[in-house]
Amino acid sequence: MTAKIIDGKALATKVRNEVSKAVLELNKKGITPGLATVIVGNDAASSIYVTNKGKSAKEVGIKSLQYSLAESVSENELLKLINELNLNKDVDGILVQLPLPKQINSEVILDSIKPSKDVDGFNIFNAGNIYLNREGVIPCTPLGCLIMLRSIQKSLKGMNAVIIGRSNIVGKPMAQLLLNEDCTVTTVHSKSNNIQRIVKEADIIIAAVGIPNLVKASWVKKGAIVIDVGINRINYKDKTKLVGDVDFKEVQALASYITPVPGGVGPMTIACLLMNTVFQCSRKNNLSLPENLKNLY
Ligand code: GUN
Repeated sequence: MTAKIIDGKALATKVRNEVSKAVLELNKKGITPGLATVIVGNDAASSIYVTNKGKSAKEVGIKSLQYSLAESVSENELLKLINELNLNKDVDGILVQLPLPKQINSEVILDSIKPSKDVDGFNIFNAGNIYLNREGVIPCTPLGCLIMLRSIQKSLKGMNAVIIGRSNIVGKPMAQLLLNEDCTVTTVHSKSNNIQRIVKEADIIIAAVGIPNLVKASWVKKGAIVIDVGINRINYKDKTKLVGDVDFKEVQALASYITPVPGGVGPMTIACLLMNTVFQCSRKNNLSLPENLKNLY
């Protein structure tokens, strides 16, 4: 068996096209959605992500406001900016790129974003919504993974999903989302016993741990669906190369479906951020959420 590739790049283009259509509908009502991105410091990878988020927003007709603050900025200064963005009528979504420097408490910052302008779903209020299976904001990467899963299978009911990694950004919301989809969910992490044995039982594997090529063919049940969230930079033949958390070559021979790195989950994360921005903009204007976007998952 050779796994079919779930083409995240193509699927993200489809999502972005639907977002563009939804933005045009809002434009007809005199509304332009706005997304503010905030980056602190100059971590190269984070800068690339945030630049791409702003660029993609503009391409679908979302107004992009980009704020870049010095590494040394104080928590109070960042809170002041977020407060301004909370009050700014042109802003429907606020994204503060993580990680933040040591002097800043991320929890304080994420909770200072008005829940109705949170487009990451990292705010405590929206984290509660997903936990309780209520309508809210689904974090961009888990939402991207769900859309990828849905692109190959409509119902995930009863499937055994194993998530590797328990981060607040991916692992925890992903587990909750798949539980809400009626999967049987197990999360394994750095302190888990028998990780390989547990992963081997999975119909769906979500690898989100940040360890290059961790998941080997011997961990994977024949026919499993494998979603690789990892974006790891490794040195390879004097160059840097992006690899996932899954040993793609090995696992492709066994899985039924697999996502590549790059070109898998990464583009979906950005497309889902744009979608979340349109959702928040619609809610702010007391409009129902665009059907064409809701139909994507
Ligand atoms: N850092 C890594 N992934 C993300 C993300 O999805 N959102 C934010 N805000 N920061 C991140």
